[in-house]
Amino acid sequence: METVVSGIRPTGELHLGNYFGALRNFIKMQHEHNCYFFIADYHSLTTHPTPHDLHGHVKSVLINYLAAGLDPEVSTIYIQSDMPQVAELYLLLNMNAYIGELERVASFKEKIRTQPNNVNAGLLTYPTLMAADIIIHRATKVPVGKDQGQHLEMTRTFVNRFNRLYNVEYFPEPVAYNFGEDLIKIPGLDGSTKMSKSDNENSCIYLSDSPELIRKKVMRAVTDQGPTEPMQAKPQPIINIFDIMAAVSPKETLEHFEGLYNTCQIRYGDMKKQLAEDVIVFNAPFREKIQELSSNNDYLRKVAKHGAEKAVESASKTIKEVREIIGFKSF
Ligand code: TRP
Repeated sequence: METVVSGIRPTGELHLGNYFGALRNFIKMQHEHNCYFFIADYHSLTTHPTPHDLHGHVKSVLINYLAAGLDPEVSTIYIQSDMPQVAELYLLLNMNAYIGELERVASFKEKIRTQPNNVNAGLLTYPTLMAADIIIHRATKVPVGKDQGQHLEMTRTFVNRFNRLYNVEYFPEPVAYNFGEDLIKIPGLDGSTKMSKSDNENSCIYLSDSPELIRKKVMRAVTDQGPTEPMQAKPQPIINIFDIMAAVSPKETLEHFEGLYNTCQIRYGDMKKQLAEDVIVFNAPFREKIQELSSNNDYLRKVAKHGAEKAVESASKTIKEVREIIGFKSF
């Protein structure tokens, strides 16, 4: 059994891409490991220091997590800012994080390009906060995609530096938790290869979307004139609708439309109609749960409080030990 930490920025509603990418695997993983799932609300301030509806976005993610099947009795689900011990560890790690190495991080360089008017110290030290998130529970596994590889590498750098500077074997080196074949990449409805909110809202199907909205979005998905030769290779937008169908529809449905495509008889309107109905059926239990949870603030409060208590217990232990290691003493 390993200790696993996963953070998600509070971006609001989760979509099918989030579900098939990670969430579905988290639900399995929670029974196999000691898992901490948190909502990174401190992190979101690095790009939006004056956030619009921070609480609403945190709440959406929490509801989506619970609706998808993360169990607050099995894993520790918490809001980052409910565990302020992470801010202390972040401060301590920053003393041994060097400007030069932080400036070389690709995500930082990208932010300098995209938000030149808000290059704040929080942005520069995003990797130290992320490292603190992970090592505060002395985690060994972090389920993140390739885009977070460099941040995880930095975490290992900070871990090794801490252990070396204070001459201890305290923090373990965390590595990526790879879902391998279980990771299903869901493409966008707009022809792009990844369902992503930042690119285009309409290319995403949210777990909370109503049947009407799902029909509307799917019917608008990008297609083309159709194949002109048997067994023709599919262009990206067509691969996309087949990929989404592969994820949500019964196998026979997929095979039926594959057959029609390969014999040039496909009518995308029919395929999209079927896809929309299958997405609706797939989404139904999530949507129902999301609606139920949305109006149950008492329950959400209880979940957040319970998660915070478990997270704080683990974090306090680490902070106490780290303070001793560095040499803080009380009178
Ligand atoms: N940086 C991660 C992302 O953008 C979110 C994150 C913050 C995280 N802290 C973390 C992920 C700790 C895993 C562990 O997706």
